[in-house]
Amino acid sequence: MEKIPDSRCKKLKIAIDGPAGAGKSTLARLLSERLGLPCVDTGAIYRALALKAYRLGVSEDDEERLSQLAKELKIEFKKQNNSWRVYLDGEDVTEAIRSPEITRLSSPISKHPRVREALIGLQQELAKDGVVMEGRDIGTVIIPDAEVKIFLTASVEERARRRYLELKQKGYEVDLEKLKQEIKERDERDSTRSVAPLKKAEDAVILNTDNLSIEEMVEAALRIVKERCGTR
Ligand code: DC
Repeated sequence: MEKIPDSRCKKLKIAIDGPAGAGKSTLARLLSERLGLPCVDTGAIYRALALKAYRLGVSEDDEERLSQLAKELKIEFKKQNNSWRVYLDGEDVTEAIRSPEITRLSSPISKHPRVREALIGLQQELAKDGVVMEGRDIGTVIIPDAEVKIFLTASVEERARRRYLELKQKGYEVDLEKLKQEIKERDERDSTRSVAPLKKAEDAVILNTDNLSIEEMVEAALRIVKERCGTR
């Protein structure tokens, strides 16, 4: 892999893309801690928009109003007690955006081209001074100039199992088979939409996390960073 000049590694941008449940959020959080960079979960931006639309009764098909809401969206990521909190219009919505209803709604609203367009500037602004940013189109659309691009994958079975444990832990009643089906449907929608589908950037490195512990995943990612930026 080609090494990049040290000067560019000072404001290092790391793009992590991949399907739901592959481990992106965990990897992004731990990499940001290890490298001292801010962590931005762009799924949280789509989720916050979904929450706002839900509260205002805006339909998931109303591209016009959704894109207007997207343009006005005020999102902040703040680090508190070692975890990143998400604020929507000044309100802490970190937990609210993870409910099953908002999870479902975030996918159809993210397929609208004008919604995506309206959110590009906000994401680029959050990335400009160096970042670990995770999502679906980070390496391809948002920061195509990222020094490091990782495409994280895992089987549907493994991803459903992880989501199941995560939701159970939060007290939600969930059915594993139903989760598997939902993940498949979400993959299908996110990969086949016309604008910015989930797609590996040509220069991204694929990392499959099926048989990796969290620590092994982080170590593998740090090796990729090191190959590109020897000084980190
Ligand atoms: O990563 P997540 O599950 O929190 O994302 C929620 C939804 O937002 C998901 O259905 C896909 C969409 N999304 C997107 O389209 N582009 C991104 N960069 C991040 C998320």
